[in-house]
Amino acid sequence: MLEAGRYEAGALGSGAFSAVLTCCMASMLIDQYGRVHDYLRIAVTDRCNFRCTYCMPKDGIALGPHADMLSYEEIARLSEIFVGLGVRKLRLTGGEPLVRHGIEGLFPQLSALDTELAISTNGALLVEHLDSLWAHRFHQLNISLDTLYPDRFRAITGRNACEDVQRAIRAATAYHSGTERFQSVKVNTVLIRGINDDELLDFVRFGEELSSLAAGGPTVEMRFIEYMPFRGNAWSSERSLPMSEMLAAIERVYDLDAIESSEVTRSPTIHPGPAKSFRVAGSNLRLGFITTVSEPFCGECSRLRLTADGTLRTCLFGDDGVNLRDMLRFGAREETIASAIESAVLDKWREHPPVHELAGLNTREMIAIGG
Ligand code: 5AD
Ligand code: SF4
Repeated sequence: MLEAGRYEAGALGSGAFSAVLTCCMASMLIDQYGRVHDYLRIAVTDRCNFRCTYCMPKDGIALGPHADMLSYEEIARLSEIFVGLGVRKLRLTGGEPLVRHGIEGLFPQLSALDTELAISTNGALLVEHLDSLWAHRFHQLNISLDTLYPDRFRAITGRNACEDVQRAIRAATAYHSGTERFQSVKVNTVLIRGINDDELLDFVRFGEELSSLAAGGPTVEMRFIEYMPFRGNAWSSERSLPMSEMLAAIERVYDLDAIESSEVTRSPTIHPGPAKSFRVAGSNLRLGFITTVSEPFCGECSRLRLTADGTLRTCLFGDDGVNLRDMLRFGAREETIASAIESAVLDKWREHPPVHELAGLNTREMIAIGG
């Protein structure tokens, strides 16, 4: 176990390079710009049962051998080190996390840690895992759904699962364990001009339906994500809808109230995240926008990412960082791994280049990073 207390909160001003050692404050991972990193997204696999055009190149990606992937034991050990360093929220991502064989074996190991737990899934296998997710405190569910039309769904994802995914979203929203419910159900939609942008208002209506299913249960948020460029995903700036345009279209029909970021999370310790959120007036339905393209939120970034092969990435668009799997497999001590994580965070860049420049960079495919 790591000793508590490495960095003093707020002790590092912009440009400061040295960590302040304290013995009684909780640890925090703070970069040289003063950003606290309390949120780790763990890609448990780079495999997926879908082939979303915006995520994966047409010809797929070169998949690493299974032996290169972090084992569940390694994920649990690294998670514990991150939690010792001040991470307060873990999210499982992929690829599709629920396709990894035996994934439910990881849940109890993570639920033993003192963190919030979340998962991002395409929903195809969600229903059969709801009980286990619930039981192990994975109470924040993000589910992708890019269209409500089955034929379009097949064109976007390569699979005939439109109804299954909608059913899974409804089941998660209505899920009860006694009187208890999931904390949040967020539906992630990447809007692409000419592909599914005509469904924007249908998604808000779908959200209204979910919101009435939720009644007193989970927070329901429909999240509209600006289309981002990754290697091989045929991105162009014209196809990416900015939040301003989506918002204007929605506000022609609905009254929206902006939600202050302090209201976005129920937990006072957790960073509210990058979505700009609104409430549909007179209802509990939230709409969130991820504005990576039109309004990057690097100044607010609290995220770290662990890829399926154990690489630490401090930015979705950055280069691969240190490989923590190799450190574990070469027998590095926990303190050494913790120091490597701290150095990587200190070295995090202030912001990613403008997104139209990212399109030309050789960043990994989204699926290989883990959204
Ligand atoms: N642009 C925006 N979001 C993306 N995702 C994957 N690829 C992209 C992209 N090019 C996000 C979506 C998807 C999740 C797995 O990752 O939210 O639902
Ligand atoms: Fe799979 Fe999600 Fe990528 Fe679609 S977006 S291919 S469901 S990882």
